[in-house]
Amino acid sequence: MKNISIIGSGTMGNGIAHVFAQHGFAVTLVDIAQAQLDKALVTIAKNLDRQVAKAVITEEQKASTLSNISTTTDISAGVAGADLVGEAATENTELKLDIFRKMDAHAPEACILATNTSSISITKIAAATKRPGKVIGMHFMNPVPVMKLVEIINGYGTETGVTESIVELSRTLGKIPCVVNDYPGFVANRILMPMINEAICTLHEGVAGVEEIDTVMKLGMAHPMGPLQLADFIGLDVCLAILRVLQEGFGNPKYAPSPLLVNMVAAGKLGVKSGEGFYRYEAGSKEAKAVYFR
Ligand code: CAA
Repeated sequence: MKNISIIGSGTMGNGIAHVFAQHGFAVTLVDIAQAQLDKALVTIAKNLDRQVAKAVITEEQKASTLSNISTTTDISAGVAGADLVGEAATENTELKLDIFRKMDAHAPEACILATNTSSISITKIAAATKRPGKVIGMHFMNPVPVMKLVEIINGYGTETGVTESIVELSRTLGKIPCVVNDYPGFVANRILMPMINEAICTLHEGVAGVEEIDTVMKLGMAHPMGPLQLADFIGLDVCLAILRVLQEGFGNPKYAPSPLLVNMVAAGKLGVKSGEGFYRYEAGSKEAKAVYFR
């Protein structure tokens, strides 16, 4: 594989493009607006600077990584020469199905179509295409340049050879692949989201405050971030959407989202991206201040 197209240039899409380009692949980054793509290139350059500052890469490697990335707002042209298309658009089923129909119509016949979905069924996405055997989940973790895991999800009909190529490719990117099967939440979010939800229920019931809950989990369980801060980092709307997939997919009330989470999303308190979630964030500052809850 040489030519990689990435659909969606948000946090995950630009991180995935960064990692492929850093490892010598020719990357075409696709989004609907050029302004989004320009913003993504600025973010990638900033994240490459962090790696240069930490001597993870050299200035030359930064320059060659950036030169490996081109951008387009035309999805059909953007996937026309791809060996692999990685979709990292918004976590919305209808939107993803529509993008996969377009990818299927315009990408070469042998091209593998991967999705970075965190919870939507790979089998359902594959069924929207004429090549279900070549559709697979390639779930990177945020921040992509730092996190080692790639959760690889086999759809019901994913061909064995396709899984093997994606495992090999993930290793080429310096990542550790883990192959799992296509059931709601796969493995990562089936385990992570109930933990986050339980932390929110603990807060809602007044058992402890935001900082206490996060400190217990950070210092007691050696997690790099507490569950409430991690929820802010992922996005509370994303957490809620994933819990709904688990609740609906298993029909088990244990996955029902905390009413506090539902309220916060309705109030537009989405975490880091909206400036407030369980903590308040100020632009340009790394400091997060816990919010008081009633
Ligand atoms: N690009 C490149 N390098 C980056 C980076 C980026 N976007 N973000 C952070 N880094 C680097 C920093 O330069 C730093 O490098 P050194 O270790 O060499 O010093 C390192 O990563 C740590 O960063 P910081 O010092 O800025 O901050 P930190 O120590 O608090 O670490 C963190 C930040 C890596 C995000 C850490 O807090 C962490 O691991 N948090 C948990 C992350 C996590 O759980 N991610 C999974 C979320 S779930 C998901 O993604 C999937 C889903 O489906 C919901």
